[in-house]
Amino acid sequence: MPLEQENILIVDDDVQILELIQRLLQSLNYHTYKAISVKEAIAILQDQSIDLLITDLQMPGVDGLQLVKYVSEHFPEIPKLAVTGFPSIDGALKAMKSGVMDYLIKPFTKEELKNAVQKSLALSQKPVQKTKRKSQGNTVYSEIIGQSESMQNVLNVIDRVKDNKATVFIKGESGTGKELVARAIHYMGRFSAAPFVAVNCGAIPESLLEAELFGYTKGAFTGANDNRSGFFQAANNGTLFLDEIGNASMATQLSLLRVLQEKEIMRVGSQKTEKIDVRVIAATNVDLRELIKNGRFREDLYYRLSVVQIEVPPLRDRKSDIPLLVDKFLFKYGVEYKDRIIKISDEALLALERYDWPGNIRELENSIQRAVIMCDKQVEIGNLPKHLKFQIDFPKQDTFLSLKEVERLHILKVLEATKNNKSKAAEILQIDRKTLRDKIK
Ligand SMILES: Nc1ncnc2c1ncn2[C@@H]1O[C@H](COP(=O)(O)OP(=O)(O)OP(=O)(O)O)[C@@H](O)[C@H]1O
Ligand SMILES: [Mg+2]
Repeated sequence: MPLEQENILIVDDDVQILELIQRLLQSLNYHTYKAISVKEAIAILQDQSIDLLITDLQMPGVDGLQLVKYVSEHFPEIPKLAVTGFPSIDGALKAMKSGVMDYLIKPFTKEELKNAVQKSLALSQKPVQKTKRKSQGNTVYSEIIGQSESMQNVLNVIDRVKDNKATVFIKGESGTGKELVARAIHYMGRFSAAPFVAVNCGAIPESLLEAELFGYTKGAFTGANDNRSGFFQAANNGTLFLDEIGNASMATQLSLLRVLQEKEIMRVGSQKTEKIDVRVIAATNVDLRELIKNGRFREDLYYRLSVVQIEVPPLRDRKSDIPLLVDKFLFKYGVEYKDRIIKISDEALLALERYDWPGNIRELENSIQRAVIMCDKQVEIGNLPKHLKFQIDFPKQDTFLSLKEVERLHILKVLEATKNNKSKAAEILQIDRKTLRDKIK
């Protein structure tokens, strides 16, 4: 029996099941919280320190999969156990991908529940020190790290649009956090209990995009054996995030324009319109103005989409955020892989700050993830990818370096140029190899 009772949050729209699971868990000496909707669940998660989430997958409105995804993003340390009545390979795969660790198929016995709960709790990767989360309603904000002025501007705009339904257009290089910003707008706002549906327009074949977005009627095309809803219907009352909007065909663009103007959609194969209430957030990492010039993007749609524009700055333009981001990822992956908080040496941090990050935050995150796996207790320069170990950019002219620092940078530069060949480097520097070795140390 655990010394400290573990807190388990149970989410199911079926009150009878909810109470049944609660009774069983209480008899096993767990402390339980109940929620009959995702909205309630999120409120509890923000307020309480939860050790395990048990959720139904099929629920009206925002479903369990979206809750699992939310928890994976915002409370990655909480293990997730899914309860489902209709196991399907497709559903199981989706659930696993969103972070579900185990499955419980209805109906189940007390013994099966006990085993699944114990297994999930054992797999949990709780932070070393369990801290009580305070109710502050800003968990998504706390996900977005950015003290730099440019990121503070982004946070300001998020704050201004989160409670209305204005269309938002997010620009930014790959990996800068466009999707995170879109999610923050949704989950921070008044409509957070409604669905957030993300569609990558670049990943769906052009010929299918329209049917996927607006749904279709039976017989609309070969293979359309049923009436089906699209992403717009799925996102009704909530947010539809259209990622890589530059990939939408001209026909789809025209339909989108109509939705934004008329707030109604037409399924493929139907002449009937359906009213729809969806906030659209579109994102792109390509220059739409270029596409407009080349006749590949409608200018009128561009203006409709960009009622509010957010430009997420590349990481190289906000290097002051690097230490905080590094901390966040060290924490995340330290807990995940090493069960402890991992540190970083000054030298390694300096190398991270000097690098230009063409892949932005995603590249930084991947580098730290890898470094944490490779290091012992602390990330050293040797744990970082080669190409950034020796990237030296001299600080801007207005900062003066000490002789020692200039020497250090010069040695690193020569090592980079010689691909780390110490004999060659020593020759260029006109010092012997031992001196060079000492200096490198
Ligand atoms: N400001 C931030 N603070 C913390 N983490 C961030 C921040 N911005 C982005 N991330 C993390 O970096 C990763 C990439 O972010 P995201 O997927 O939102 O980028 P993107 O701009 O949509 O990229 P792409 O154009 O490639 O789709 C995610 O894991 C995200 O959580
Ligand atoms: Mg993205």
